[in-house]
Amino acid sequence: MLKEVAERLKDNYPYGDPLYAGQMLKPPHDVARRAYEMALKINPNNHALDGGRASSAMEKEAVAALARMIGWDTHLGHLCSGGTMANLEALWVAGQLDPGKTVLASTQAHYTHQRIAGVLGLPFETIPCDRRGRMDLQALEQRLAAGGVGTVVATLGTTATGAVDPLDAIVELRSQYDFRIHADAAYGGYFVLVSTMTEETRRAFDRIAEAASVVIDPHKHGLQPYGCGCVLFRDPSVGRLYRHESPYTYFTSTELHLGEISLECSRPGAAAVALWATQRLFPLVRNGEFAQGLAKGRAAALELYERLRKDGRFVTGTAPELDILVWAPRARRISQASALSQRIFAEAAQRQLHLAIVTLPVQLIDVQDMERDGDTIVCLRSVLMKPEHRAWTDRIWAILDAATSAAVGRR
Ligand SMILES: Cc1ncc(COP(=O)(O)O)c(C=O)c1O
Repeated sequence: MLKEVAERLKDNYPYGDPLYAGQMLKPPHDVARRAYEMALKINPNNHALDGGRASSAMEKEAVAALARMIGWDTHLGHLCSGGTMANLEALWVAGQLDPGKTVLASTQAHYTHQRIAGVLGLPFETIPCDRRGRMDLQALEQRLAAGGVGTVVATLGTTATGAVDPLDAIVELRSQYDFRIHADAAYGGYFVLVSTMTEETRRAFDRIAEAASVVIDPHKHGLQPYGCGCVLFRDPSVGRLYRHESPYTYFTSTELHLGEISLECSRPGAAAVALWATQRLFPLVRNGEFAQGLAKGRAAALELYERLRKDGRFVTGTAPELDILVWAPRARRISQASALSQRIFAEAAQRQLHLAIVTLPVQLIDVQDMERDGDTIVCLRSVLMKPEHRAWTDRIWAILDAATSAAVGRR
């Protein structure tokens, strides 16, 4: 039967390979896999201390390390299944504190925010982006001035392009307007440890500690298996909002059970053990070994960006802020470029280079003299998350070059 499982699992992309440079997929570190497997032998449940004593303690330590990484000595937080659940919890707290008030996020924020606001019954509006895919400050200020805003979601690393909203300037707006800031750093949070970003991007990360809540996904950049998101609150007293009287769950200890501060009940203790072990191996220090791995992915993105810019066959957006790169082939019309992107994607895949596709507002790409026969353009997208991508840029470029020639030849 396991042979059958192995057969079925063959139907996948080679996610761990450096030539897989498509979606947000980064292999978990070996230490995370092994620690997870060790814990799985016990299969602890981090809802109550009764279900996972050691793994609950490890979760508290691992989460405290993430809070310290963003500059908080005190916090309330826990792991959860991923970025969606973590953002849901942050907006649930926001809605409890400011019932009925509007949640704002940029047009490039993850679609989950709008859906979550719907689930929570909170009004939701989008703020347009500038041509770099960052929340437009003027538009934000205008909307704040109109009133009724409870929370602004600042995305530190948008899903499509890795753009970083100007959190520093958003924080400054709090001197004039009363609103709460939630930082969705599900993708980019760990970049707070990296010093090779532009000054502008750095300025946004430097103010992350001033957000009321922050989401970081260890299962994206933190070398963890799926099922590991994290939500953090600056004010530990929001824990009161979770209060419930469960007569059957907590009986072995008067210490804090993580289920008392979490919306989810049962949660895998193994995920906490894996994260704890990984953080022991790679302490979350600025410019440390782990941060250098992130910097390598970013260097790969910048290197490929420069090549794309110098090559007349392509158009790009502004330089990547993190390690996500988007570009499109140049054509006479936008619609032709979009069709060609799809063909390059397929030709690259045939040559074992796995890219992604993203449809973007045309303003985000410097389309130059292309005829604008549409508002959106289908682009190629590459998430260069693996440190190995740095050493593979020549090979990636060579395949992209061949795939582009083949796609153009077939036109
Ligand atoms: C910025 C951002 N927020 C939230 C999410 C949702 O996270 P998850 O897929 O872990 O639920 C993602 C996923 O890509 C993301 O990039």
